[in-house]
Amino acid sequence: MTQRRPLVAANWKMNGVLATIRPLVRDVLQGLTEDIHAEVVICPPYIYLSEVSALLAESSVQLGAQNLSQHGAGAYTGEISAAMLLDYNCRYVIVGHSERRYLYGESDELVAENFVAASNADIIPILCVGEQLQEREAGNTEEVVARQLDTVIDKAGIDTFAKAVIAYEPVWAIGTGRNATPDQAQEVHAFIRLRLARHDDTIADGIRVLYGGSVKADNAKELFSMADVDGGLIGGASLQADDFLAICQATR
Ligand code: PGA
Repeated sequence: MTQRRPLVAANWKMNGVLATIRPLVRDVLQGLTEDIHAEVVICPPYIYLSEVSALLAESSVQLGAQNLSQHGAGAYTGEISAAMLLDYNCRYVIVGHSERRYLYGESDELVAENFVAASNADIIPILCVGEQLQEREAGNTEEVVARQLDTVIDKAGIDTFAKAVIAYEPVWAIGTGRNATPDQAQEVHAFIRLRLARHDDTIADGIRVLYGGSVKADNAKELFSMADVDGGLIGGASLQADDFLAICQATR
């Protein structure tokens, strides 16, 4: 079995202004000690990529964006391309976050196109999948996650997953303070790996599958201790340096 390096990604969403972002990055960088062996990624709002890129320049922390356009360039008002993200050294980009899917109507197909746009530019996509509460209650979790995943595999091809990350984020757990139990997370993470293994065992074994949804300093260790949980995508708790650092520490 492959030894997968844990990854902890901060998804700031639409939070912070320069006055709060600067001290937040500074405190995170100061608190990241050598013994944290997780890869750490920060995904600020687009408009702060330049600022955060500069702040992270001498550090081991990677920069990520929260979304991107499926198009290369052109008349797409308000959109940001992969090439623009590369200008600011973005190594990662979140695609298909549930807030994009459900608040902004992103379809499985669009998410797959965004995934391809990132991959083609050599930016590592963090593909979010996850069921809504009524889907879980109806017993459809696996069906939903399989559909979200298969659309991307069909469009992008399984080989692109060699350089990708998946985040399982049950929608009912995001920002609600109600996290999936470690067993619930493990069950879906194992399912995701199995789904990829139908196409390629090595890729399924090597890919990092993060858990996201109300990860906090006090539940991170238990979640990260599960066999198929390789770190987390952190929203609310990534806005406080101490909380975020404690979560990074919990990957050990
Ligand atoms: P949360 O968000 O940690 O605030 O629940 C996670 C996410 O949406 O990525």
